[in-house]
Amino acid sequence: MLLAYFASLPLLTRVGSWYSFWYNVGFFGLFPTQDLNSFEIDSPVVDIFQWDPRCDYGYVFLGPRGSSVTNPGPVILDARGNVVWIGTQFDLQATDVKVQRYRGQDYLTFWSGRDDSIHGYGSYYMLNSSYDTSYVLTPVGDIDGDLHEFRITEDATALITGYEITTADLSSLGKSHKGWIYDAVIQEIDIETGHLIFQWRASSFYAVNDTFAPIGDRGSGKDNPFDYFHVNSVDKDPQGNYYVSSRYLHTVTCINSTGEVIFVLGGKRNSFTDVSGEPASYFSWQHDANWHPNSVLTVFDNGRADSHVSGDYSRGLSVSLNLQNMTSSVLQVYENPHYLLSPSQGSMQVIPETGNILIGWGHIPAYTEYAPDGEVLCDIHFGAGLFFEWGWVKSYRVFKGGAWTGRPSVPPDIDVYENTVYISWNGATEVTGWMLECSSYPHAADEEFESILFVSKDGFETVFELPDELDSYFRIAALDSGGQRLGYTKVFDSSSGQAVSGIILPPGLEETVPLQEPLLAACALGTAIVVIWRCYRKLQSISSRWNLLDIS
Ligand SMILES: *[C@@H]1O[C@H](CO)[C@@H](O)[C@H](O)[C@H]1NC(C)=O
Ligand SMILES: *[C@@H]1O[C@H](CO)[C@@H](O)[C@H](O)[C@H]1NC(C)=O
Ligand SMILES: *[C@@H]1O[C@H](CO)[C@@H](O)[C@H](O)[C@H]1NC(C)=O
Ligand SMILES: *[C@@H]1O[C@H](CO)[C@@H](O)[C@H](O)[C@H]1NC(C)=O
Repeated sequence: MLLAYFASLPLLTRVGSWYSFWYNVGFFGLFPTQDLNSFEIDSPVVDIFQWDPRCDYGYVFLGPRGSSVTNPGPVILDARGNVVWIGTQFDLQATDVKVQRYRGQDYLTFWSGRDDSIHGYGSYYMLNSSYDTSYVLTPVGDIDGDLHEFRITEDATALITGYEITTADLSSLGKSHKGWIYDAVIQEIDIETGHLIFQWRASSFYAVNDTFAPIGDRGSGKDNPFDYFHVNSVDKDPQGNYYVSSRYLHTVTCINSTGEVIFVLGGKRNSFTDVSGEPASYFSWQHDANWHPNSVLTVFDNGRADSHVSGDYSRGLSVSLNLQNMTSSVLQVYENPHYLLSPSQGSMQVIPETGNILIGWGHIPAYTEYAPDGEVLCDIHFGAGLFFEWGWVKSYRVFKGGAWTGRPSVPPDIDVYENTVYISWNGATEVTGWMLECSSYPHAADEEFESILFVSKDGFETVFELPDELDSYFRIAALDSGGQRLGYTKVFDSSSGQAVSGIILPPGLEETVPLQEPLLAACALGTAIVVIWRCYRKLQSISSRWNLLDIS
């Protein structure tokens, strides 16, 4: 374990500032967060370990989880690591957080649920631009919604992975003829109808001894199936072929639309002859295989699965396949600036807007952006570097880019303490500033509010002081870059600093429920009278028995 500290030392020698030093030795905690006044959850704070203006300016999508993360779930950051959105409506961890297009509209998509460190039990979510859940998908048949993949195709379908417990002959591994395995399943599901379009099982082609995973004492019963394949990604090309990554076979398998295996890259049944200096088919325990035009595949090559180490460092790998002559060659290697082996998880993305490469280090709470030629541009940590090895903070994958406009359906969050205003609007991507507005009445019409003070948005939560001489009531409007009002906070009484009851919704979302408030007040008053009466009676009966009230 101490070795891990020494492994982190090269990293600490690269620390550029004192802030970065204290961040990475864990001075601010293993998962540093910032306390917010207007919002119930602390927001993650990153360390920009390395920065380059050539980095993509799009949003970053991740799902922090692990034992040091108090509120796991989907998160959006801006390119500089400021929090844009925290998915508070999901109590559980999220994986594969990203923006995907479905029927011409962008959705924020992810898996959320529980896991047993082999596979997940959960569902696949699609949120629309107001962060409302538009679709929840589950697999077809008797398998759990697994955490490893949720990819929307151009055919309006979803690709997902599944783990199915079944019997298998394990004699080639020196075990029982009647053993048990986790078979790997991939499914393509029609999003609108939930119908199964395509399904493929690893056992239809691969034998259990194709695996590199040691069987140990697993496989003897239904309750401890041997996970021989460990599916962790599925992609599909425009011709309708599927690309399936098996972590334990060290393979990417191409399957055509009738379920036949077309080729295998890597592992014991590699179809290719390596023709570049560096072997293109030599990757191990990998994640996130992606197809690209001109027969290019990219993988995140872990080089390690927990205690099984076969690579020097985890890295990104881009491979070109010649499908006529069945040769493979390395196009580019994306070296690891942490000099660490990530024992699980991870992702490699070609950022659509820039062609830069983004690697999420999985078990290691960091992501790195590269120029296409492999130069490290940006390196961002969201956990302390000295503890990278332990996996107490991690994100299964990290993505960047993709247009995303968030317009929450709830009003901005605000806290007023003495003369200080704390304001934020979780997920509102268009806000550039806040306008303090005053009026003489609590329920004044929009035109009766007077603009008093403009404050530019400053990170997730903006803090400012109220001016001394304020009109009786105030509220704060969220403004976009064109000065349009996107929404308003509650109205506050400036003498007491308390919110006037009732919420004023953004334009177009007002609902007038005139009866609701008086009714609520009447109910509350009624309840209070009953409670006081019962307490009074209770105290009377106690005092008559014990004379407690007679203390004179
Ligand atoms: C998002 O979905 C919710 C719930 O279905 C719906 O009320 C809302 O109008 C949708 N928002 C947008 C921008 O489509
Ligand atoms: C797997 O076992 C079968 C016999 O059960 C054998 O023919 C085959 O060569 C083995 N494959 C590997 C990769 O060891
Ligand atoms: C899939 O591959 C098999 C075997 O090569 C072939 O017979 C079949 O026609 C292919 N299916 C499609 C849709 O190309
Ligand atoms: C395949 O190899 C042959 C013979 O070496 C060569 O002529 C041909 O151009 C190659 N095809 C491709 C697509 O590289």
